[in-house]
Amino acid sequence: MDQKKYKQKLLEEIYTQYKNCQRCPLAQAERNNIVFGDGNPDADLMLIGEGPGRNEDLQGKPFVGRAGKLLDELLESANLKRGDIFIGNIVKCRPPNNRLPLPNEIAECLPLLEKQIKIIRPKVICTLGSCSTRTLLGNDKKITQSRGKLFKWNNIVTIPTFHPAYILRNPKKMPDLFEDLRLAAQNIKNK
Ligand code: URA
Repeated sequence: MDQKKYKQKLLEEIYTQYKNCQRCPLAQAERNNIVFGDGNPDADLMLIGEGPGRNEDLQGKPFVGRAGKLLDELLESANLKRGDIFIGNIVKCRPPNNRLPLPNEIAECLPLLEKQIKIIRPKVICTLGSCSTRTLLGNDKKITQSRGKLFKWNNIVTIPTFHPAYILRNPKKMPDLFEDLRLAAQNIKNK
């Protein structure tokens, strides 16, 4: 079995373990589907958002709403194909009214993301927004302080950037998100 198929099989095994997850209150909140994450199981780049919104919950896929459309456009401009990367989230179930995930919800869900990253073993991780950045880097810095810089998560280059939903509200920051995606693409090539 080739590496990509093997990783796909491992991801499917953990999906089976989590698809009816009841570990935190988000399971009972407004969940229609868990949003496990989507993309190439052998990706060089992993993008990590915060948690599913309404459209993601309905479709069971990450970043399929307005923020996702913007992300797709920026990825394309940065010469990154969505099909080549893997997109996941800190929490896999929709927080009610799109509120921030609570610490207990993050703590219950984080082991799943860690398993996903360890299976995929990307060369670069891009954290989208402050929730994802603070969770993975274990700090409470403002995203404006971290974005565009290179960090490490378990020895994997990690580049924080703005969340595309923030860019929809603050379009002037779009070049920053684009630049950070380009930096991610560059770091994949350097590896
Ligand atoms: N926002 C996120 O953080 N993740 C999604 O999957 C969609 C919107």
